[in-house]
Amino acid sequence: MKKAIYPGSFDPLTLGHMDIIERSAKIVDELVVGVLNNSAKNSLFSLDERVSMIKEMTDSIPNVTVASFDGLLVDYMKEIDATIIIRGLRAVTDFEYELQIAQTNHVENPDVETIFLTTSLQYSYLSSTIVKEFASYGGDLSKFVPQRFIERIYAKYNIKK
Ligand code: PNS
Repeated sequence: MKKAIYPGSFDPLTLGHMDIIERSAKIVDELVVGVLNNSAKNSLFSLDERVSMIKEMTDSIPNVTVASFDGLLVDYMKEIDATIIIRGLRAVTDFEYELQIAQTNHVENPDVETIFLTTSLQYSYLSSTIVKEFASYGGDLSKFVPQRFIERIYAKYNIKK
């Protein structure tokens, strides 16, 4: 039984995240999308909003669940009995940071392994930060996030389309 976690801030969930969720759900038996409750980070969407948005998009994938966590990822993984971390790698710029986190987590708990999926080419430029920047100027989000989130994202910037 291979139980994995795909951790992140998901503020908001992008099509790039969805791509990683769909592909990794085919590799592992059970996938938990773990939304970080990071009170220090000024997030656009509340923790509850982010969790429910991901639930809306993953409801139809039978081996995917969504949960929030705070504190260290390795501690939460012990709690839920998961041993695999899934992360997406977009470009070489992601690599150093991701390598550091993966190695730290592995030192903390040698049973924990990180699997990196390279993002699909069409999403290699995409990040939640870019989505927010683009949205704040009323840019077209249809290629970046699930259609049903577009209005909700604009609403955060008081933009009506
Ligand atoms: O989507 P993000 O913001 O790049 O995700 C980062 C995340 C949530 C994977 C990372 O910040 C994390 O795991 N935070 C929890 C604290 C922790 O365990 N840090 C890693 C060891 S330094």
